[in-house]
Amino acid sequence: MKSIKELNLEDKRVLVRVDFNVPMDEHQNITDDTRIREVLPTLRYILDNKGRLIIMSHMGRPKGKRADELSLGPVAKRLGRLLEQEIEMAPDCTGEEVEKLVGSMGQNEVILLENLRFNSGEEKNDPDFARKLAALGDVYINDAFAVSHRAHASVDAVVRNFSEAAAGFLLLKELKYFKDAMENPRRPLVAIIGGAKVSGKFGALENMLSRVNKFIIGGAMANSFLKSMGFDMGSSKVEDELVEAAGELRQRAIREGIKFYLPIDAVVAPEPDPRAETKIVPIQEIPANWMALDIGPATSRLFDEALYNSKTIVWNGPMGMFEIDAFSRGTVSMVYSVADSYALSIVGGGDTDVAIHSTGQTDRFSYISTGGGAFLQLLEGKPLPGVEALGGSDIR
Ligand code: 3PG
Repeated sequence: MKSIKELNLEDKRVLVRVDFNVPMDEHQNITDDTRIREVLPTLRYILDNKGRLIIMSHMGRPKGKRADELSLGPVAKRLGRLLEQEIEMAPDCTGEEVEKLVGSMGQNEVILLENLRFNSGEEKNDPDFARKLAALGDVYINDAFAVSHRAHASVDAVVRNFSEAAAGFLLLKELKYFKDAMENPRRPLVAIIGGAKVSGKFGALENMLSRVNKFIIGGAMANSFLKSMGFDMGSSKVEDELVEAAGELRQRAIREGIKFYLPIDAVVAPEPDPRAETKIVPIQEIPANWMALDIGPATSRLFDEALYNSKTIVWNGPMGMFEIDAFSRGTVSMVYSVADSYALSIVGGGDTDVAIHSTGQTDRFSYISTGGGAFLQLLEGKPLPGVEALGGSDIR
């Protein structure tokens, strides 16, 4: 895989795939522009090196149809403010009008193509659609780590139309941090895995079995592990079909000398509702018809102590239903435990970074990935199609 620094960009039309799939409120105000800010070094580098900048991204999941609420218009405005220059918003991502716009652009101009997923060819990895996109640029840059796990036209098929293609600074940075954490880490290496479902994280847990020194498991996914140990989880969310496999995975981890930490108490409620009555109970005492919705304070202390001597921490997934205040303390406490540690701390997964941002502790983490699904795919040890397409110094 080449770096953007190896390409000559002067006077070239530089087609850059980014991930501007940013959260917006119901009035189309961008509520978090981290993904835009994170690619600014690449965009500025292209402009400083006299390239003509053509940016493309998806937004949401419009399923191949135009949907006004998923237009990249608001992103163009925010990007213009951040780059301190005007951004020309294209009416589409391919077609005559777009070709004309690109054909007449001068040095130092920036065009943002409209949402790639308004065209069904994008998600189908359609070679014709990819060819049309490729016709807009002389060289191609992928700086869209967060969507590089998708074999979509603008990430995968498009690359085969270029003799000059490379990775942008964000993609390189994401892969480097991940490699530092997982390939030759300073030990102990601790994986903190939370979130709602074991099913979505099982592959990652299995892949990490041969790498980590400790597992810390929280969130609703811990319930399936606890049930496999014989605890009565009340009406907590449990994936019954995975209870046995979860138990076996835990046994395997222990046989391989991995320390395996699970919650010892929980915040429980009859239902996941902000107004619900709550109590803190030992894991042995979850009442019938009550559900575990967050780790309890004793668990937070246990997990904090388990992190004490760690040198590398990889964290994916919250400790409870943190979007409801009453069930957010476990995740917030974990934010501080990781932030207070002296370890290299790498965090990935959409929800986890939201939790960290909300506490204002962002700067106290070594690296917060912009990717959710892509980060998980790396944890699973699977290659990323977007990285493979570039020649793939992929990380397994
Ligand atoms: C993300 O937000 O994880 C990426 O933009 C990918 O989006 P997708 O899951 O809709 O492909």
